[in-house]
Amino acid sequence: MSASSSVQYQHSLQPLNTFGIAATARAYLRVTKKEQLLGVYADGAWATLPKLVLGGGSNVLLTGDFDGLVLHLALEGKELIGGDDRHHFVRASAGENWHAFVQWTVGQGIGGLENLSLIPGTVGAAPIQNIGAYGLEIKDVFHSATVFDPVSGETRVMDAAACRFGYRDSVFKQEGRHLIILDVTFALPKQWTPNLRYAELAAEPGMAEAPTPQQVADAVIAIRRRKLPDPAVIGNAGSFFKNPVVPGAQCAALLARFPNLVHHAQPDGSEKLAAGWLIDQCGWKGKSLGAAGVYPQQALVLVNNGGATGAEVVALAQAIQADVQARYGVLLEPEPVFI
Ligand code: FAD
Ligand code: EPU
Repeated sequence: MSASSSVQYQHSLQPLNTFGIAATARAYLRVTKKEQLLGVYADGAWATLPKLVLGGGSNVLLTGDFDGLVLHLALEGKELIGGDDRHHFVRASAGENWHAFVQWTVGQGIGGLENLSLIPGTVGAAPIQNIGAYGLEIKDVFHSATVFDPVSGETRVMDAAACRFGYRDSVFKQEGRHLIILDVTFALPKQWTPNLRYAELAAEPGMAEAPTPQQVADAVIAIRRRKLPDPAVIGNAGSFFKNPVVPGAQCAALLARFPNLVHHAQPDGSEKLAAGWLIDQCGWKGKSLGAAGVYPQQALVLVNNGGATGAEVVALAQAIQADVQARYGVLLEPEPVFI
């Protein structure tokens, strides 16, 4: 059966983005087998249409209809593929739900991913922005990814160096934007110790008494449930802006004027500022523009209060950027990918 026979037309993307924004794709294919993906790129009929790879839709902002083919990656499968002296090697296909995968590793007594519990989305998208939370980033446990390159038609394996991970960044957001991740392999420690570098996590009940991976996962889940809106209840894409990284001297000058500025020193001498604090101080928490709003419990999260358009979210984001720039001289860069 050719890929074309499974394509649906004028397909609603509203259930496929956690912001819950209404938009339509000219064509849509749910990809459950690698051959379907290869078939699309081998078929001249699809060659000229723009393509959009979508996982869980939890880090995209749809600014309008998509006049192209959405490839919804739903490749499934996960397994413990082996190990070396120090690591378990665990591989999962791109369409696996991230949180379910984390729970599956923890359930087998394999620690290492628990700090990234409850992050929405898929395994295949996790390396795109090097997902991070509570003192861990994907790059810390990443072994390799199998990627399909639609330009060359080849499938190859990329190691961590090739992925060029940075804070909420990787080669897949830069010149490797066209690459499609098919599966990801993680190297998880055989000698596990809890990662409690993040003060708020270390302060959770039970964390001082030699917790298990499952207990750390449960603590992370508890913090996240307190702080972040559930997309099933209120549309959002998590943090809407990255935390800006500024030179140490700029941070010092800001601190002289704003002594309560929240900042974290980086290994290279730069400083990461808390965008949520900057937005909060500008008075945006709980405010709305049209149906797009700033989450009342966390100013870094923009929400869809019901029926928001992508344009409304963009207008709110721009108003926030302008205020933060005017007050602090810092440009906030959006985290989600604008489509
Ligand atoms: P999508 O939104 O579907 O896609 C995101 C981008 O990746 C798009 O450009 C898409 O084209 C591309 N893409 C997706 N799959 C593939 C693939 N297989 N190959 C190539 N490109 C692909 N992020 C964090 O880092 N830390 C957090 O703590 C965090 N918390 C969040 C909390 C909430 C409530 C929400 C809604 C989001 C949060 N996020 C967080 C953001 C989001 O969950 C992550 O970025 C996640 O990895 C996105 O996965 P996805 O499958 O939904 O990607
Ligand atoms: N703050 C305020 N007011 C607010 C929000 C935050 O003053 O309205 C202050 C907090 O008091 C705190 C600081 O800002 O001192 C940082 O806040 P928080 O600990 O909630 O973390 P964050 O910087 O807002 C980042 C990530 C999250 C990740 C958490 C935990 C980014 C852009 N965001 O949030 O990732 O889960 O840390 O590690 O790096 C995401 O990327 O979507 C995401 C949710």
